[in-house]
Amino acid sequence: RIAYVNGRYLPLSQAQVHIEDRGYQFADGVYEVVPLYRGRLLDEDPHLDRFDYSLRELQIAPPMSRAALKLVLRELVRRNGLSDALLYFQATRGVAPRDHKFPAKTKTAFVATMRRSRPPSAKQIEEGVSVMTTRDIRWERCDIKSLNLLPNLLAKQQATVAGVFEAWLVDDDDNITEGSSTNAWIVTSDGKLVTHDAGAAILNGITRQRVIKLMEGEGLTFEQRAFSREEAMRAREAFLSSSSSFVLPITRIDGKPVGEGKPGPMTRRLREIYVAAAL
Ligand code: PDD
Repeated sequence: RIAYVNGRYLPLSQAQVHIEDRGYQFADGVYEVVPLYRGRLLDEDPHLDRFDYSLRELQIAPPMSRAALKLVLRELVRRNGLSDALLYFQATRGVAPRDHKFPAKTKTAFVATMRRSRPPSAKQIEEGVSVMTTRDIRWERCDIKSLNLLPNLLAKQQATVAGVFEAWLVDDDDNITEGSSTNAWIVTSDGKLVTHDAGAAILNGITRQRVIKLMEGEGLTFEQRAFSREEAMRAREAFLSSSSSFVLPITRIDGKPVGEGKPGPMTRRLREIYVAAAL
């Protein structure tokens, strides 16, 4: 595997960063994950737009121009020779002696890696996956795709120990915000698609945004609003969305079957049209 590190392409085992990189010491940086599907980058520009947004919100200078970044990503794809993969890249405020305040002058550090994608199995797609709920203990700027992921890791680990696929995060008003690394969706008992509104409480997923566009094209009615854990427990269907899972049916929440405990028709349809549009 080949990585890109601050201007150089190197075998992953030789790729290194400075131990005083602020990403390492403070998680002072942002990242993106872009899917490569059948040799094509999915929604590259929306991912780069979100990357720019995250950088701007944290006042980190862009590591390079968008055109240069696109060239780096293409070169990384070429050198790794994969066609179904996930590209990971991150930018940090750079290297400086450890001090909380922003250093006067630093050069944004940038690294990118790539790995073969591990998409959900046929069984998971056919039968759906289970989720558990747990408290959302994150900060008030979840719209920034920052490297600070400890609450997400704790939630995902809880899910793993519980033997379920994902943890859905519940805020102080008992609403589901999103999953630890996925957006959360339900189809209400009266047939409406609902996902939490974009804002500071969630990461506005690129897959989420694409699903919204597809729904508009299909003439499906949907609402972007908070929904409670209780409403989710009464939902007819549920699913999650992300760059690595696309649209994945959820058939159990906290051990209780969603609807009839099988992937529902709306979820199946959305997955189908999502995959078709990605080809
Ligand atoms: N996670 N919500 C959170 C908290 C996420 O970390 C992610 C993405 C999503 C889905 O966003 P998108 O559709 O743009 O992938 C929602 C990535 C894949 C990760 O951290 O690996």
